[in-house]
Amino acid sequence: MTSRVIPVAPFTLTVFGATGDLARRKLIPALFHRDLDGQIPEDATIIGVSRRALSDDQFRAFARQALTDHIPASELEGPEVDRFLARLSYVAADADADGGWPELAQRVGAFPEHIPVYYLATAPHLFGPICERLGKYGLAEKGRVVIEKPIGKDLKSAVALNQQIGRIFPEDRVYRIDHYLGKETVQNLMALRFANALFEPLWNNAHIDHVQITVAEALGVEERAGYYDTAGAMRDMVQNHILQLLCLVAMEPPASLDADAVRDEKLKVLRALKPIDDQNMAAVTVRGQYRAGASAGGAVPGYLDELGSSTSSTETFVAVKAEVENWRWAGVPFYLRTGKRLASRVSEIVVGFKPVPHSVFDANVGTIESNRLVIRLQPDEGVKLWLMIKDPGPGGIRLTHVPLDMSFAKAFKVRNPDAYERLILDVVRGNQTLFMRRDEVEAAWKWVDPILEAWRNAKEPPRPYTAGTWGPSAAIALIERDGRTWLEDGA
Ligand code: BG6
Repeated sequence: MTSRVIPVAPFTLTVFGATGDLARRKLIPALFHRDLDGQIPEDATIIGVSRRALSDDQFRAFARQALTDHIPASELEGPEVDRFLARLSYVAADADADGGWPELAQRVGAFPEHIPVYYLATAPHLFGPICERLGKYGLAEKGRVVIEKPIGKDLKSAVALNQQIGRIFPEDRVYRIDHYLGKETVQNLMALRFANALFEPLWNNAHIDHVQITVAEALGVEERAGYYDTAGAMRDMVQNHILQLLCLVAMEPPASLDADAVRDEKLKVLRALKPIDDQNMAAVTVRGQYRAGASAGGAVPGYLDELGSSTSSTETFVAVKAEVENWRWAGVPFYLRTGKRLASRVSEIVVGFKPVPHSVFDANVGTIESNRLVIRLQPDEGVKLWLMIKDPGPGGIRLTHVPLDMSFAKAFKVRNPDAYERLILDVVRGNQTLFMRRDEVEAAWKWVDPILEAWRNAKEPPRPYTAGTWGPSAAIALIERDGRTWLEDGA
């Protein structure tokens, strides 16, 4: 099976922070893949910008290395590599000074019919200054701006940043990336819910017992420890990725996939989240920090060693029992957890249905387990629906719990595109559906801020957990107190 490729309109993409980690690991490989598939029009052009003095050729050599490092050699054998590199050029410019900007303006201006896109793959404190200079040099007029999280570190700073950007770019040209929304399975969640008549009638507190959202990583913070220590798992993962997943599970069906129709529904979910503060924080949240342990069969250091510090109260693990206080979800807990250096890399959403109301079977036929829908984001993207069936064979009825199991890799013989491939081209298409609107980001902070504050007030250090495990035992207690268990690996 091959995917359908619809080329986008011609664009000029300017990447600020073009020699940085995000550009190297994600943006350049993603753009190349789209080009390889024929989705990038012939005269589209990509301008790299950073402070370093580089020639066009030196930037192309940097990009060639990025491709070699992140794309299988078999995909780099054709003439497409040179064709892609020929699209690239480079301008040295500083966000805080005027040098280089006239040249950038001239290069972008050379393609007046193109859609100008500015991707700010830089440190967040540069978002404001870059936008201001884009305005000053007349580049913002038709331009679209793309920013990455972290969008602030709390509500106040997020509002200030959004205002700063909003002075130059109207909201309908601001694209706030949450790369989880570009993941195939996340979009499949919408397909599953809204392109099937099967689930929606059951998608409420009459039939759903609880929901679990796990985003577990096996890696530690490694060379990102400096940034991470100022953020922690709540700001790094929960405020954005996990809350976005929760929104897609919990939102009402939008009238269409129109960007605002979807984002209006997500916003309502964020606003309906039950507040967590000093009163209930201890009962419904757990924060942890990993100690040395083992991962993938080898010894790994603890967080403090990676940070190179003897003390830090930053959490590398969070578990939260969240509740959406509305008619559909009243009484249905959403158990959320995420962490670094956990037992394996797995991200999944488990929708646990209620038990059957009455068993017609004898007790000795086996336990009737509840149905579960497991949406696996990574690795091995797919969907499993756990059902009870009769164990095959003669000798009467015995019941067993088995999954209807669809692994996307097995069902569709296509490469699973990286989230950035989809999202960058959505910017060119002018489709904001998979991007966070300003009020969503702010509503998410509004829920997160009091949790962070309650943690600060409690002055308790994060609970230690051994690297390579599923987090502190308190996280297990958090769900087991309610008579439920965390489910791992598609179980
Ligand atoms: C990023 C976080 O947004 O998402 C990282 O800042 C995290 O800390 C990453 O590792 C996880 O993304 P993925 O796509 O690898 O699950």
